[in-house]
Amino acid sequence: MANINRFAEMLPEITAWRRDLHENPELLFDCHRTAGVVAEKLKAFGVDEIKTGLGRTGLVGVIKGKSTASGKVIGLRADMDALPMQETTGVEHASKVDGKMHACGHDGHTAMLLGAAKYLAETRNFDGTVVVIFQPAEEGGGGGKEMVDDGMMDIFGIQEVYGMHNMPTLPVGHFAIRPGPLMAATDQFDIYVEGKGGHAAMPHNTIDTTLVASQIVVALQSIVGRNIDPLANVVISVTSFETESKAYNVIPQRVHIRGTCRTLTPEARDQSEAAIARVAAHTATAFGATARLEYERGYPVTKNHPEQTEFAVEVARALSGEQAVIDDVDPVMGGEDFSYMLEARPGAFIFAGNGDTAMLHHPDYDFNDEMIPTGCSYWVKLAETRMPASA
Ligand code: NI
Repeated sequence: MANINRFAEMLPEITAWRRDLHENPELLFDCHRTAGVVAEKLKAFGVDEIKTGLGRTGLVGVIKGKSTASGKVIGLRADMDALPMQETTGVEHASKVDGKMHACGHDGHTAMLLGAAKYLAETRNFDGTVVVIFQPAEEGGGGGKEMVDDGMMDIFGIQEVYGMHNMPTLPVGHFAIRPGPLMAATDQFDIYVEGKGGHAAMPHNTIDTTLVASQIVVALQSIVGRNIDPLANVVISVTSFETESKAYNVIPQRVHIRGTCRTLTPEARDQSEAAIARVAAHTATAFGATARLEYERGYPVTKNHPEQTEFAVEVARALSGEQAVIDDVDPVMGGEDFSYMLEARPGAFIFAGNGDTAMLHHPDYDFNDEMIPTGCSYWVKLAETRMPASA
């Protein structure tokens, strides 16, 4: 419990960091100010090494324990980017930038990992090396992938990686995790349907693209129900339907459908992609039209490794008690680019309670500063338990 008490003391300081980041949100890879603030603080904490420019604006800090004889190296990761949304919280520390806000709590993630870094650099009560990872562009840019592609894991010899995300509705101090798939692969698709435009009063002289595209939208919804194993969780959502025509009396030549496909296994992902292509093409053919699919694979499944997940549960339970940790939470169909780090190294991603707040990506959302001691303590306990200092 020593950590929790120490972080209760540090709470005003870490809260101030968090609110400063909240006031100054940055999008995707444009995290220059945020990365600058992080680098400056890591330097002030006296970490052993700072490397910037990994994944463009990403950076890491290296903290060596009192001993490094164990040869162990673990990575702890936070994300730094905000969202292109207008904040409506009305709080004093609200975003000062029009159209940008920290609506996913990455300001809190960054502040909590900084708090842990400060503590670890002061105490160094472990045998091994901690690499604190601050990544840009989690919200769609693949900053985590770019850091991995830039060789981060090999450069620092990282053997295991851990990530954390705040979760509204889960009480503060509580954790939720599961081994295996925790978050979905997030793919997007475009379907370009082409018929034969013409006068709306003479449909028999046209191939009504709007009708064909509507049939495709309906048929796509049969994939999850009829083609995919009911136990494999899949979501196919059509999110945009755009015709060329804005007139009341014109049947358009072309319709553009957009959507997202979320899956939890490689098999379901391959099956869904193939089924979307088949349904679009053949539905169009049935009506004498054509459909062309562009399917783009996004973040892979965020898949927790069993051993590291079990360890994360142990740490969370030691911190918060048996009752406060769900170890078999349902997967979430949102995506997360920590998935790339979990593909590169074994590790685990955990949800930590943000309490009774607005949901993630809602304009009223704000990170709950009351969870800072829990988040910081989790990081510290994880490092100190995984790489215990010899007495
Ligand atoms: Ni997020």
